Amino acid sequence: MGQPLTLLMPERFQKRHPMHVEGFGHTGISSRPMMSQRIVSAMRKGGEEFPIDASISQSSLGHGRVFTVILRDVSIRERTRQELAQAREDLRELSVASRTAREQENSRISRELHDELGQNLTSLKMDLAWLEANTPAEDTRVRRTLVAMRSVLDSTVAATRRISADLRPLMLDDLGLAAALEWLVEESTRRHGFTVDLEVDELSANIAEPLASQIYRIVQESLTNAGRHAAARHVRVHVRAIGPEIHLDVQDDGRGIAPDDLRKKGSFGLVGIRERVYILAGSVEMRGDPGRGTAIHVRLPIPAEARA
Ligand SMILES: Nc1ncnc2c1ncn2[C@@H]1O[C@H](COP(=O)(O)OP(=O)(O)OP(=O)(O)O)[C@@H](O)[C@H]1O
Ligand SMILES: [Mg+2]
Repeated sequence: MGQPLTLLMPERFQKRHPMHVEGFGHTGISSRPMMSQRIVSAMRKGGEEFPIDASISQSSLGHGRVFTVILRDVSIRERTRQELAQAREDLRELSVASRTAREQENSRISRELHDELGQNLTSLKMDLAWLEANTPAEDTRVRRTLVAMRSVLDSTVAATRRISADLRPLMLDDLGLAAALEWLVEESTRRHGFTVDLEVDELSANIAEPLASQIYRIVQESLTNAGRHAAARHVRVHVRAIGPEIHLDVQDDGRGIAPDDLRKKGSFGLVGIRERVYILAGSVEMRGDPGRGTAIHVRLPIPAEARA
């Protein structure tokens, strides 16, 4: 009581304080929080600094002016805020690690399926062809069995290819993002019956991991959605490097996603897109125009080492 306010201030702020108060006096504003301009520090008796919320107000009283300052210790709030930010960052790093591990594991299984199983099935097919060629025409029962075997074998080859490619398109590793997207677009066109206008610029065509697989997965989910929910006839997929970012646009001409569907319970496609973007420190906008279609716009920063 009766002490100057500077008693509560770290020394480096003490000298300028009267000027700040005077400046505020001239503004004529009646009250103003100080936090909005910068974090305000106060000092404990022992000299230790801590963050405070401070607001100042003024009123004229006859011939003088009265300033009122309210100070509130916000160290706990600030600590909680920092802990929360740290926890978010930890979670993001964990997500990156787990996504990377999963892609690598998928890649390994996919290659195994393709190389091991694929090769074996191919040699079985050749043996079968030899058997067919060397079975006498009058041996109808054997021939019928061989035909049935070929049909099972063909569908097994097709299933192996499909499972392998769904796990991870090996093209992504072998030929880069543009080639993998072309293949994906071809597949989706066949599966869903819409046309796709795909444009991938030169820099994005061979963009490094982890961007390549994340972009691939986002396009994959968007095309699946366009096929399953939108009843789209045409989809545009553009991947472009603009400045330090990759811009990915997927736009369909379907029924347009409803605002409520953006966070649908039990649906993980769009959540997955958001998570992929989040772990790459990018941003995403999803917009539906009823009857006109859906647009997804993703921006991902290109890591410095990938830009070289
Ligand atoms: N391109 C689109 N056009 C119209 N509606 C869409 C489109 N994409 C998504 N939706 C709507 O948004 C919902 C959520 O999509 P999301 O991809 O998250 O889940 P999902 O496709 O239903 O299931 P999954 O988890 O297998 O992806 C969909 O159920 C659908 O109603
Ligand atoms: Mg989906």
